[in-house]
Amino acid sequence: MFPRGREILLGIGGGISAYKSCDLVRRLRDSGYLITVVPTRNSLNFVGATTWEALSGRRVPEDLWSNAHEVPHISLAKNSDLIVIAPATADLIARLAQGRADDLLTNIVLASRAPLILVPAMHTEMWLNQATVDNIATLKTRGVHVVEPDVGRLTGEDNGVGRYPQINKILDCVDTISSHKSDLSGRRVLISAGGTREPIDAVRFIGNNSSGIQGYSVAHAAASRGAEVTVVSANVNLPSVEGVNTIKVSTAKEMQEAMESYFDETDICVMTAAVADIRPKHPNNEKITKSDLTTLDLITNPDILQGLSDRKTSQLLVGFAAQTGHDGLRKAKEKYALKKVDILYFNDVSGGAIFGSDMTEGTIILSGDEAAPFERASKMTLAHKLLDYAVDKLGYAND
Ligand code: CTP
Repeated sequence: MFPRGREILLGIGGGISAYKSCDLVRRLRDSGYLITVVPTRNSLNFVGATTWEALSGRRVPEDLWSNAHEVPHISLAKNSDLIVIAPATADLIARLAQGRADDLLTNIVLASRAPLILVPAMHTEMWLNQATVDNIATLKTRGVHVVEPDVGRLTGEDNGVGRYPQINKILDCVDTISSHKSDLSGRRVLISAGGTREPIDAVRFIGNNSSGIQGYSVAHAAASRGAEVTVVSANVNLPSVEGVNTIKVSTAKEMQEAMESYFDETDICVMTAAVADIRPKHPNNEKITKSDLTTLDLITNPDILQGLSDRKTSQLLVGFAAQTGHDGLRKAKEKYALKKVDILYFNDVSGGAIFGSDMTEGTIILSGDEAAPFERASKMTLAHKLLDYAVDKLGYAND
């Protein structure tokens, strides 16, 4: 089973309702999220680390001082798509409002750019205390999301507002805030990445500048939305994406073989690879001396995308078109029609502006007469955008 889904960091405050977050972990995991639990020291009086480890299936980082060489607050802050703190106690809320960083959890929150959801739970008097009211208001102005506590029975005999909310309320908030739900859960996504190399002899090849960043971004994005992802990767010098099935190939023919062997079982296929259109007819096993290397006999490589589009049944096909020059969009539209793809991303690669960069800009062609400009943004943003359109076209959002 692949680890899939969005990364949620679940902070646990030191309140009696910490035990209710045990169910929250389970329900979030059932929805395909990956959970790292970070309990405050006080909360461990209510629920111990062993329980969190068993429920989340992951080690529980407890303080700033263990594994310091891994700089845990920074790596956890970076790796989280979303931070949820449930229960959030009055003290924790106060520390967050002040921007304090006096334990692992508050350090992570301060170091992270991920959206933050607070699930306050406390006695009515504490919730309604002006200090807490002001702290919550401050946090809201900073964009923090707050799931309002329920009204009902509290610890002991008292009743009132401050009760840990219904889990479904928290899940709804997580699904909404986590900008992309697990909308590809149970779907298979096949991606080609990088650039093929066609050997001339033992040391030389015909190739291109594709870095694989775009393909790996699509792989990362699709996996984070719950898909089972296979990447056919040609000459990419990037670390493999966690949980993604990566098949290494080098030439166009190898790529074609790998893509075709997975295609029939695929729901969405994204062809980001730059495929060499030609290859030497007679590659030499030995290095050719330069005096003998005056001409090259070339033959055309198969058009992989075209082949896939010919055998396609229900698969949604996304192609890329790299063009240069003023006529690029018109040519890209021709490619869209010719290759019978569902979505085609056209970008102008003049002057090497896109290859190797984390950024991209171009046009997303969605049909014969519909195209949406994609303004300069990261290749990861484009990856999500293309998947949004794919999900839309396939009607998954309505499932
Ligand atoms: N493609 C492919 N097999 C090839 C060439 C291209 O599968 N032999 C795919 C690319 O992965 C991309 C799309 O087709 O998704 C368009 O690639 P591009 O290089 O822009 O166009 P070409 O078809 O090669 O046409 P041209 O070189 O004439 O622009």
